[in-house]
This record gives sequence, structure tokens and C-alpha cells, in this order.
Amino acid sequence: MTIEEYLKLPGEELHRSIDRMKKERGAVFLVHNYQRLEVQRLADHIGDSLALAQAAARTRSRLIVFCGVHFMAETAKLLNPDGKVIMPDTGAGCPMADMVTPESLRTAKRGYGDPMVAAYVNTSAAVKAESDICCTSSNAVRVVGSLPRDRGILFVPDRNLGSYAARMSGRDLILWPGHCFVHDRITVDDVQKAREEHPRARLIVHPECRPEVAAQADEVASTSGMVKAVQERNGVDEWIIGTETGLVEQLAAAHPGKGIHPLAESAVCRNMKLTTLAKAAWALEHEAGEIIVPQAVAGRARLALERMLALG
Ligand code: 13P
Ligand code: SF4
Repeated sequence: MTIEEYLKLPGEELHRSIDRMKKERGAVFLVHNYQRLEVQRLADHIGDSLALAQAAARTRSRLIVFCGVHFMAETAKLLNPDGKVIMPDTGAGCPMADMVTPESLRTAKRGYGDPMVAAYVNTSAAVKAESDICCTSSNAVRVVGSLPRDRGILFVPDRNLGSYAARMSGRDLILWPGHCFVHDRITVDDVQKAREEHPRARLIVHPECRPEVAAQADEVASTSGMVKAVQERNGVDEWIIGTETGLVEQLAAAHPGKGIHPLAESAVCRNMKLTTLAKAAWALEHEAGEIIVPQAVAGRARLALERMLALG
């Protein structure tokens, strides 16, 4: 079928054809927490970038359909080189990942006297290849804390996650001036407004938020950390969620008895929303949108990811 034909089908029918093709082709769907709710329903594994990287490394399926953004699918391919990884929309990038290039990183390394480089997974494989170790939002503190004390550490590209990891680990980091525009534009005013509207709610924010916003929060966590907190914090039945709205929608659907409020309604990652049911069905049928990692960088990029995974 063509994409135009898929676009005409109602949601339930798309779900049925995707389920059928998934079985026929032995495909597995890895889906990030920020995806549209109807795409989240396709997931064999749903989670944050660390959980999805671990699922990609573990799966025995020959075909991985990655619903997220490009660096995440590339990470899946690096950790599962024999599998075929496809994306329903390969144009779904991460603007923050584009804020550091291998060339700009090499220049900075020379300028700072050859520091170690800790790279957030929100980077291209080419940047990971120039880095010593990767981290995600859920393990950045542990990764930074594991690095030797006799060398400088350059953290790329998110200055907000880097500053959080530095504060929590007590390590000095050289911060790259990158940021996620979705989280970076959440302000202390948003916090004040949300606290006034929901005075009993607990505030949990993503470490990509600015330090002054994180300082106002009751908890700071990755997207899967937020899911766990809302599930497990006994006696807390009202939350303000400081991250992208896909996760807020997931939590509201999963906990109809709890008050789940977005910290900022405007926190929408347009790239995460590029994946739709129709594109997923079309990509699966044609096994289109394959992710290929250039040989020249794959080995070194994989090493940086494996060093992170080895920390547990
Ligand atoms: P998580 O790893 O917490 O899911 O975050 C990924 C991301 O891109 C946040 O903007
Ligand atoms: Fe990138 Fe921000 Fe979107 Fe996450 S929310 S994928 S960091 S632009």
C-alpha cells in the first residue's frame, strides 16, 4: 500500500494491520515516552533512552521499528549491528544533538588540552566516536562520577544536564553550550504558576530543564524515572510533570485517579511527533527508513556506549 492509502485508514484499522505485519515479519517496536499516545500503544518496549538502548541490545528480533528520534535509532543500530533498524520518519532529529559536530568537538578538545569527553546519548554516532563514554539522563551522575579525577571532563552537548550531573556528582565539568529548546524554555514563572494552581502537587522535572527550574523541583528524573516515581510514590496523588507532553499524556492515561498536570503545555517536541501510525504501517510494510551507521565511526561510537552500559 502507499502512504496515501494508509493515511485514509482509521486508527483501529492501522493498529490491526501493524499487529499483523509485526507478527509476519518478526518485528519489535521500541517507542520513546514522548511519542504520540496512539504510537505508544504499538510498543513492545516503551521507555527512556537508556531503557530503549538496553532493549535494542537485548532483542533477538531481526527487525526493530524505532519510534523516537534519529540518535536513538542510531544507538539501537550500534548496539544491535546484525539487526535491521528502521524509523517511520527518518527526518525526526534532535536539534540539541545537532549543536555539536565531530569537527567542533575535535577543535574544543584541542583548546581544552585533551580532556575526557562524556557525551549525552543525544549526539550523532560521529560525535560519540570522538567521545570516551556516553550517558543518558538517567545515569549521567553515575557516569561522570566514574571518570578519573586527574583529567578535565568535557560534557557535551546539554549544558543543563551537564550542570545537574556536576552538582550531583561534585565533579567539575566543562560544559558545552547546547540545550534542548523544549526544556530550556520552561521558566521559574511556569513553576510559580503551576505551584499556585496545584498547591498539593509534587513537582518532578527532567534534568534538561534549567538549573534554576531544577532547583525548585521536589525531584529531578529521566522520563522513565518519572514513570516510576508516579507509580511508586505512595500517598502522592497529584503531580506537576516538567517535561515533554507525550509523557504527561501517558501518565494521565495510566493514572486516571491521580492529578497529572503539565508544568508547561508548550513543552512539545515537534520531532517526536513526526512519527504517526500511518508512517509506521508504511515503513513496516516496505521495511523503509533503514538506519545505516558509517563504518568509519561505528566501532568507536559503540565503545563509548558499551562503556556506559558496563556501569550497569
Ligand atoms: P530520556 O532519556 O529521559 O527519555 O530523555 C530523552 C530526551 O530526549 C529528553 O528530551
Ligand atoms: Fe531532543 Fe529535546 Fe526533543 Fe529530547 S525533547 S528529542 S532533547 S529536542
